Amino acid sequence: MTTRLRLGVNIDHVATIRNARGGPHPDPVRAARLAAEAGADGITAHLREDRRHISDGDIERLGQETVLPLNLEMAATAEMLEIALRHRPHAACLVPERREERTTEGGLEVHRAQNVLRPFVSRLNDAGIRVSLFVAPDPHQLEAAVRIGAPVVELHTGAYCHAEGAARDEELARLVKGAALAAEFGLECHAGHGLSYDTVPPIAQIPNVVELNIGHFLIGEAIFGGLDSAIKRMRAIMDQARAATDGGTARVMDQPAS
Ligand code: PXP
Repeated sequence: MTTRLRLGVNIDHVATIRNARGGPHPDPVRAARLAAEAGADGITAHLREDRRHISDGDIERLGQETVLPLNLEMAATAEMLEIALRHRPHAACLVPERREERTTEGGLEVHRAQNVLRPFVSRLNDAGIRVSLFVAPDPHQLEAAVRIGAPVVELHTGAYCHAEGAARDEELARLVKGAALAAEFGLECHAGHGLSYDTVPPIAQIPNVVELNIGHFLIGEAIFGGLDSAIKRMRAIMDQARAATDGGTARVMDQPAS
């Protein structure tokens, strides 16, 4: 039986465009509602420490005004933990964050920072928030994720998307192995970063991956054909690629929102 692949739509860059002018338009919450109608399974939003795109008010409204489960991307800081515990999103994805980076450039160094990360994972777990760790497909990071009690990992697909030719094949092979190892360790496996219509099919075909989080490309495509059409096309490409696999060994923590 094929495991349905969930699509989490990251709406950060709707807020980036809004913030360019400081007013309320375009509204990321409206984008979240539209994403639900277009077939997304969840909404992902990164509340960065510098609030360069998503704002505290957006997080509050996403919780109140949208039907899809919210995946809050957050740095492992006391401030973000307090916000997550107050809003209680469906899920929280811990990501590394540096102010000077343009986007989340690498995965978490879980192996090195396990003592720092462990209490964040356990506080979020205790609050019933599904915790994932954004990591490179590196066995050391996956082992450490298990050690500190994270139920889910999100594999960073950025290196795969940015590489070309044989280098891209190598990155894909690392992701395939990483996803298999994550399943062996009993981790639910997600993937995301940099995915487009062209790069998504091989990732959608990794049987152990059950959720993809995609943002920048979809919001960019929305400029040309609308958000509804961009999400529907991505959904169709993912589903078509997925249909060619059996997905039998995937570990799924929770079912897609209906
Ligand atoms: N997953 C994580 C953990 C991320 O940090 C991001 C970027 O915010 C994404 C997925 C989505 O990446 P993109 O916007 O490149 O599709």
